[in-house]
Parts: sequence; C-alpha cells; structure tokens
Amino acid sequence: MQKHIFKSFASDNNSGIHPDIIKAITEVNIGDAKAYGEDDYTKTADEKFREHFGKEVEAYFVFNGTAANALALRAITESFHSIICADVAHINVSECNAVEKFTGCKLITIPSKDGKITIDQVKKHMHVIGEQHSAQPKVISITQATEFGRIYTKNEIEDLADFTHKNNMFLHMDGARLSNAAAALNLSLKELTKDAGVDILSFGGTKNGVMCVEAVILFNKELSKNFKYIRKQGMQLASKMRFISAQFIALLSNNLWLNNAKHANEMAKFLESKIKDIKEIKITQNVETNSIFATIPKESIQLLLEKYFFYIWDEETSEVRWMTSFDTTKEEIIDFANYIREVIQKIRINNQVIIV
Ligand SMILES: Cc1ncc(COP(=O)(O)O)c(C=O)c1O
Repeated sequence: MQKHIFKSFASDNNSGIHPDIIKAITEVNIGDAKAYGEDDYTKTADEKFREHFGKEVEAYFVFNGTAANALALRAITESFHSIICADVAHINVSECNAVEKFTGCKLITIPSKDGKITIDQVKKHMHVIGEQHSAQPKVISITQATEFGRIYTKNEIEDLADFTHKNNMFLHMDGARLSNAAAALNLSLKELTKDAGVDILSFGGTKNGVMCVEAVILFNKELSKNFKYIRKQGMQLASKMRFISAQFIALLSNNLWLNNAKHANEMAKFLESKIKDIKEIKITQNVETNSIFATIPKESIQLLLEKYFFYIWDEETSEVRWMTSFDTTKEEIIDFANYIREVIQKIRINNQVIIV
C-alpha cells in the first residue's frame, strides 16, 4: 500500500492510533475469548474504569461518541422530556438528530459564545415543570471540554449538578475531550465527574489515541439497570469486545490518557505562542485545551488549505479551528506556523498600495 502523509490541524479525529494501543490490540489477538464482553480482558477494563471513576461505576463500551451521547441520554429520559444544552453542543449540531431519534426528547438550546451554559440561563426554562402541555426538563447536558475548547471548573460542574438534582433532573456530560479538560485542570477523571455530581458520562477515547471506542459511564446503579438492553438495541454491543477492552486497559494504564491529553494541550499552547504576535490573526477563545479558534484574513484560508487541512468554523467572520492531537509534534507546529507567516506576508504584499 502506498504511504500517504497528510497533515491536518482539523481535528483530533484525524490523528492516528497511539502505538501502545496498537500493541495492546495485538497482544490480545491470541487464542479465543468469550464474546460480547464476557471475556477476562473486559473484566480488567471494567476494573480500570472503577479505579479511575470510583468503585460503584459501570462502564459500557460503544463505537463512537454520537452513540455514547444518544444512548446515555436515552437511558435517563422518557420521550416527553426535554434536554437542555448549549446551542453549539455536539448533540445539537453534529449528531444528525440521533439524540432526538433515540430519546424522542426535545432539545432546548442555550445561546453560548464559548460552549458553556450557566444556571441563570437554564433557570429560564424551569417554569414549565409540571405543566402538562410542555416537554418536561429532565437533563442538563454539558460538554467538557466544550466545542470551543473551553473548560468548566469543578465548582461550576458542582453548582450545575446541585441545581439539576434540586429540580429532579440529571446532569449528563459529553466528555469526548474530558481527558483534555482533566489534564488542563490537573484534576482526576473522578474529581471532574462523579465527585462533582455528574450522573452519566460519555467518555471519549477516539480523540485521545484509541480506535473507534468510547464509553458510557453510569455513576448511579439505578440508572444502569437497563443500559445493557439499551446498548444492544442501539446496535452498539461489540461481539469481539476484547479488542475494545484491551484499548481501554492500555489507555487507562501508566497515565497514557493523561500524557496524551497533556501533550495535545501543550501543542495547542505552543501553536498559540508561535502565531499570537501576527496582527492579522485574532485568537477568539482562550486556549485551554487542544484547540485554537481564530479569525484570519479571508484571502489566507485557501492558501493555507493548499498545504494543511483544517475547518472553517464560521465563513462569515472568517473564523477557523486548528486542533492538535496526542501525536502532533513540535516540528509540525513550527512548520505550520512558518507557513501561516509566509501566507500572511504574501497577503500583506498583495494588499500593499505602491505609491511611485
Ligand atoms: C464534543 C463532541 N462530542 C462527541 C463527539 C463524538 O462524535 P463521533 O460520533 O463522531 O465519535 C465529538 C466528535 O467530534 C465531539 O466533538
């Protein structure tokens, strides 16, 4: 097969698989194992999750983040409920209504500039509780780190959880990038979830170096009663589970999850340090995890895309998203930053009015 090197700053989804994960998959590729999670590797993976998230938790593995979110939310709602989330939440804009389809719930969206939502914003939607004509608010869903790479502090999560529980609701966390948030805050996975009052978590693996695996973590035994049926009906029960479990064992051992996330975060900071003095570029969000959002000259976008792949976040404002990964190298950042400078310089020259 021809080797094809493609460099992308579009998404941590574009990165490869960490070598330790490939090794872990290969190591369990020996002999037979019981299917559907009845194998010993899966028992060990379950133990790893309990080590990181607390003794009582139950983890269910699924193939992708959309499934984790849709099935997690399915487990805690009835179709007459509503789910409150940010307008930019992945469940609202990037999951093709999977949550609406699987839950039957209405999504109530809250305007947000950084992907975070506040209690004051949520409060405005509470007046319908008990009112038979309206969808009943049952879940607040937050994304950690947010779609803009921003972070909820532990206190903010605790306050949201408190508010949620006082209103007889659940707090769901889309933790596709929870590891990046935990690394940035120097907190454990448990401190940012179970200890802060999260009821159910979609835990990301794919973006942090594993292959096609995420997990739904239930912090409440009552909630987990039916989850195995929900997962099967949702077509997310893997038969050859050992190859999924092996990945999570590796990810949650020897701080691999943390080192990968830390590295990705550091690379975003490094990129920021390399470009922040360019006056034509305005960084629009604090760089807290592994993404940079910036407005750049419109004319520069196509030139940059000739060499590097990334997403235009907002065509109108010419805002782009550059994302780093566990495997982004300093050299790649330096090359990218140099190319950005080259392109900006070209634009400056083109725009110069020469007076003779
Ligand atoms: C915040 C967030 N949640 C969930 C997901 C998972 O989506 P997927 O179904 O593509 O794995 C993503 C992926 O980009 C994401 O950014």
